[in-house]
Amino acid sequence: MSVQDAERKNAPVLLDVKGLEVAYGKAQVIHGVDFQVRKGEFVALLGRNGAGKSTTLHALSGLIPKKAGVVRFKDRDISRLEPREIVREGIVNVLEGHRVFTGLTVEDNLLLGTYAKKSSGDGSKLDRIYALFPEIGERRHQLASRLSGGQQQILAVGQGIIANPHLLILDEPSGGLAPIVVDRILKVAKELCDSGIAILLVEQLVREALKFSDYCYLVETGRIGGEGTAQEVRSGELIKRIYLGG
Ligand SMILES: Nc1ncnc2c1ncn2[C@@H]1O[C@H](COP(=O)(O)OP(=O)(O)OP(=O)(O)O)[C@@H](O)[C@H]1O
Ligand SMILES: [Mg+2]
Repeated sequence: MSVQDAERKNAPVLLDVKGLEVAYGKAQVIHGVDFQVRKGEFVALLGRNGAGKSTTLHALSGLIPKKAGVVRFKDRDISRLEPREIVREGIVNVLEGHRVFTGLTVEDNLLLGTYAKKSSGDGSKLDRIYALFPEIGERRHQLASRLSGGQQQILAVGQGIIANPHLLILDEPSGGLAPIVVDRILKVAKELCDSGIAILLVEQLVREALKFSDYCYLVETGRIGGEGTAQEVRSGELIKRIYLGG
């Protein structure tokens, strides 16, 4: 065990997924996935298209049923909670592909992320998001339908951040974005992580993911095919399997 691994084992577990199995009808696509996110950690799930990353995220967020397995968050079994209850526990999942309400303004989309009535603190929360992502700040009063696909994606990430999660899940935030914007989103995620919010990232841009994450799991056809610290993955055999798709 490396020093980094030993340090990791000492950090309290925030999210604990054990024996997760998921099927779409008769087709089982997740076959017993185990992984953890520890307090203050930035974890990446990597793997080829169709490996089961999004399915895993959907299942732990309560958006699709689990065939088997237990999900614990902050030492509580959340396996049977409704999606909104899971959000209330502090897990916010920014889904793959931008899903914002195009008929609402940018600002109203963000306020939806606070899922509460307008409160006096919302102004500063909004300002924080606009400071992080000026491109949506400039368009705060425009309908989201007038944003580009990339800007909508940024708005979706802003919606996730403004919800004040304890664990922020980002499923391929890079989709359709210029590399420089991806870098900025992941930098923001890293800053959130440094301020105590754990991050669970799925990303096809392996190099970017490894640059910002502490620990990685390789998902291969519905199973965890390997794991290690970002440094171990970068310098070991696993990186080849990640690139070659297992
Ligand atoms: N709604 C669905 N109904 C049936 N099968 C599905 C459904 N969603 C995904 N699948 C299948 O489940 C498997 C895992 O898909 P999933 O979307 O979890 O992969 P992924 O790792 O997120 O891939 P990508 O990197 O392309 O986003 C794939 O074989 C896919 O075809
Ligand atoms: Mg996916």
